[in-house]
Amino acid sequence: MKEKMSLDVNGTVHAIEADPDMPLLYALRNNLGLNNPHFGCGLAQCGACTVLLDGQPIRSCVTPVSAAKNAKITTLAGLGTPENPHPLQKAYVEEQVPQCGYCINGWIMTAAAFLKEKPKPSDAQIREALSGLKCRCGTHMGILRAVKRAAEMMG
Ligand code: FES
Ligand code: FES
Repeated sequence: MKEKMSLDVNGTVHAIEADPDMPLLYALRNNLGLNNPHFGCGLAQCGACTVLLDGQPIRSCVTPVSAAKNAKITTLAGLGTPENPHPLQKAYVEEQVPQCGYCINGWIMTAAAFLKEKPKPSDAQIREALSGLKCRCGTHMGILRAVKRAAEMMG
């Protein structure tokens, strides 16, 4: 049965009516029209649907919307603006990482949380932190370069 709830996304509180068990991804995309998190596998296997819940990366395809009711949700659009992009967004452009772009949301959101915890990571630590993500276009080396570049920018 549907319930009224509010979701705090990128600093704006939205009222929605939804089944509490519905995946958060559907609420973000279908109720709120936010299309950064993507539906990839729907099984917590690829990371395309990643958003931050109170700063922690979660797979929104398997997270019930009710779990996000009292949390701050950040999507890729909330990381930076076109005028003031997040260092990762800047680095992805500078390194020309995306091919089809479908997976990129997950890599950037996961790396954003990781770099907060580990501002000066080694290559091995970056690989380990991002090991649960998938890119069918094989952009992995570009992603590694971009995360390192972003870490340098963040200083
Ligand atoms: S769509 Fe959520 S992990 Fe693949
Ligand atoms: S850029 Fe196409 S799946 Fe990663």
